[in-house]
Amino acid sequence: MKKKTIRDVDLEGKRVLMRVDFNVPLDGAGNITDDTRIRAALPTIDYALQAGARLVLMSHLGRPKGEVVESMRLTPVARRLSELLGQEVKKVDDCIGTNVKEKVEALKVGEVLLLENLRFHPEEEKNDEKFAQELAGLGEVFINDAFGTAHRAHASTEGVARLLPAAAGLLMEKEIEYLGKALENPAKPFITILGGAKVSDKIGVIENLMDKVDSFIIGGGMAYTFLKAKGKDVGDSLVEEDKVELAGDLLRRAEEKGALFLLPFDHIIADGFSEEAAVKVTEGEEIPDGWKGMDIGEKTREEFSRVLRGAKTVLWNGPLGVFEMAPFAKGTETIARLLAGMEATTIIGGGDTVAAIANLGLSENFTHISTGGGASLEFLEGKVLPGLAALNDK
Ligand code: 3PG
Repeated sequence: MKKKTIRDVDLEGKRVLMRVDFNVPLDGAGNITDDTRIRAALPTIDYALQAGARLVLMSHLGRPKGEVVESMRLTPVARRLSELLGQEVKKVDDCIGTNVKEKVEALKVGEVLLLENLRFHPEEEKNDEKFAQELAGLGEVFINDAFGTAHRAHASTEGVARLLPAAAGLLMEKEIEYLGKALENPAKPFITILGGAKVSDKIGVIENLMDKVDSFIIGGGMAYTFLKAKGKDVGDSLVEEDKVELAGDLLRRAEEKGALFLLPFDHIIADGFSEEAAVKVTEGEEIPDGWKGMDIGEKTREEFSRVLRGAKTVLWNGPLGVFEMAPFAKGTETIARLLAGMEATTIIGGGDTVAAIANLGLSENFTHISTGGGASLEFLEGKVLPGLAALNDK
């Protein structure tokens, strides 16, 4: 990585201001339902503590729109982090101000303080200079480990990085290393699997990867827009009508570049978007009126699996069917199990795909599971991530 990392900075006795992405899901009672993002930051936190830091952590949680929202306080996160670290994590009720400053100054080497949700202040998302200065005043060194928020140019990601010596944390480094290698120097054959509901979410990724991949494998709701562009009957399946022309154009351009574009050619269909709906399997590509495509069919599963077995690098973003409903989970499950057993470099991004793999208990069986949804997509689109770009070069 061309950016300085935490390993390049002296942390001994210093107040280290670290941006993490603790934007975790909470249930109605305020319990954390998935602590992956907290666990993912532990190596960097441990590293800083071992190196003699006085550690100040900051994060956003949810989208409180610049106001204090009680259910979006970081208190449950501080509790969970204390358990995981095996030491007390102090917590303050704001992220700036005199009280916060006093608490930060009182921190001893090896102690950890978590600030309150940054987005309770509208200045955070506006990347307000004065707010960034107040945050920067809490540290002597800035470490950004919030890969999941690196696509946002906010005060705590981009603003602070311009005001303090700024380096990447270990999670940020690892994410960039794996995703970057897939873009720059993937072991071939390189196959990208894209799914999920909408073509519009993945256009940038398809365009950027077109001359890098050997094949695209397409499933999920987005497949029907491509099938429609090929003139197929897709019945009542989800189609983004305003993207059909673009989908056809992408198919043509991919073909010109020699990238194979594999679309489903049989489908599990239902007469409604529900687990209780009547379910059938199509013979071929076409879907009759009154029916919706909900998952890839058996022949498609076999063909996708056959092609994937030859891959050396696989990048996967987006489920291949409506996996949260049991009758339509088979496509996603088959591909997840296949990849989990392969020797290839397997990289997974996107909240839904990561959740599907976690539900199957397969999270340990992939080379890299990205903690970034939007951030990993923007990185794969070839966009500059402001939170990363603002860090000091080596
Ligand atoms: C995410 O969950 O993708 C990140 O934490 C960023 O959150 P945001 O989309 O609300 O900026």
